[in-house]
Amino acid sequence: MRVRTAVVGVGHMAHSHLPNLAQFEDVDLVALCDVSEERLQSTARQYNVPRVYTELTRMLDGERLDCVFVITPEWLHAGQSIECLRRGLDVFCEKPPSHNVEESKRMAEEAGASGKLLALGFNRRFSVTEIKEAFSEHPPQMCVAEFIRPVDEYRPLINGSIHALDTLIYICGEPRAAAAVATYSDPEKHECIAASIEFANGALATLASGYGTQTSAERLSVYGHGIAAWWNRSSVTIRRGDESETREIGDSVRLEDRHFIDCVKGEAEPIATIDDAVVTMEWVHRVFDAAQIEVSPAPRTGRGYLQWCPYCGADIVAYREECVSCGRELGAWSIPIEDMAE
Ligand SMILES: NC(=O)c1ccc[n+]([C@@H]2O[C@H](COP(=O)([O-])OP(=O)(O)OC[C@H]3O[C@@H](n4cnc5c(N)ncnc54)[C@H](O)[C@@H]3O)[C@@H](O)[C@H]2O)c1
Repeated sequence: MRVRTAVVGVGHMAHSHLPNLAQFEDVDLVALCDVSEERLQSTARQYNVPRVYTELTRMLDGERLDCVFVITPEWLHAGQSIECLRRGLDVFCEKPPSHNVEESKRMAEEAGASGKLLALGFNRRFSVTEIKEAFSEHPPQMCVAEFIRPVDEYRPLINGSIHALDTLIYICGEPRAAAAVATYSDPEKHECIAASIEFANGALATLASGYGTQTSAERLSVYGHGIAAWWNRSSVTIRRGDESETREIGDSVRLEDRHFIDCVKGEAEPIATIDDAVVTMEWVHRVFDAAQIEVSPAPRTGRGYLQWCPYCGADIVAYREECVSCGRELGAWSIPIEDMAE
């Protein structure tokens, strides 16, 4: 079977998926969709994609597809994924599923009703499979997950270090309790969170989500029953007794893309679905609650992502960039709208 696919949202992250989709021999990358004409044209040229669209519905009306990659900002994920599911398409949606638990649950309901796959972009799962297997007989006793980034970001635990929490959940199963402390200057822009998590199977974990540290790191350590396992973005080491083995790991996004296409073809079982993502989102919010961090359910107004350009009023179609309508720089997402308006 050849898989006919299209991508909606061709910004930063799409360029981690597109080289894979363009190279897979059983994939026909037939169309791209983005609200930026310029980005569409240059990306279509780069990956030799025949057709481009500036509206998702027009792309879905005009193309015969098996699946769609949704790689837009997270406030668009629910609407766009549901639109594709309702048209009978399998969907790969980047993480986070949405900006809140309720909308994530709605996505899960729609996926269930459609009978189609809604896979989520928790790509770290695909590079820790050996660790999960090593602890399949006995669960880990102690884990440490670190996700450290140099600068502040908008809602880092939802947008970045959600990967670390999701990987812990993938390996240890569902948590049953969380305690946490945090230092932050703005509830929408928390800088550092230290969480302690207890899992239903008895495993314990420490999650360190550190933003604004002017340094970067991402590591996972898993211990128990004579096994020690360490993961970073490039390698996995597993030590059993005195014997230790280290293996370089491939690009986790490529592994994830290959796996999704295999699922569409019915040749693999999904391992990062919207149902998994709902659990992870619920525990993101449990950690927020434990750390007494209040996050608003919808981030598109007030502080946070801008919903419209403060200079010309056009709808904001790309964050962290200039307005596509008037070209003015939008600045950091964290700047309150009222401070930016002239
Ligand atoms: N899995 C990972 O490790 C990882 C890493 C980075 C980003 N992401 C996720 O990928 C997603 C995209 O992030 P990004 O960094 O590529 O953002 P981005 O702003 O660089 O790209 C988003 C693209 O979506 C387009 N877009 C906006 N509104 C649209 C609409 N209505 N229809 C079609 N296209 C539209 C924008 O023009 C832009 O090209 C986010 O959910 C982000 O959290 C995941």
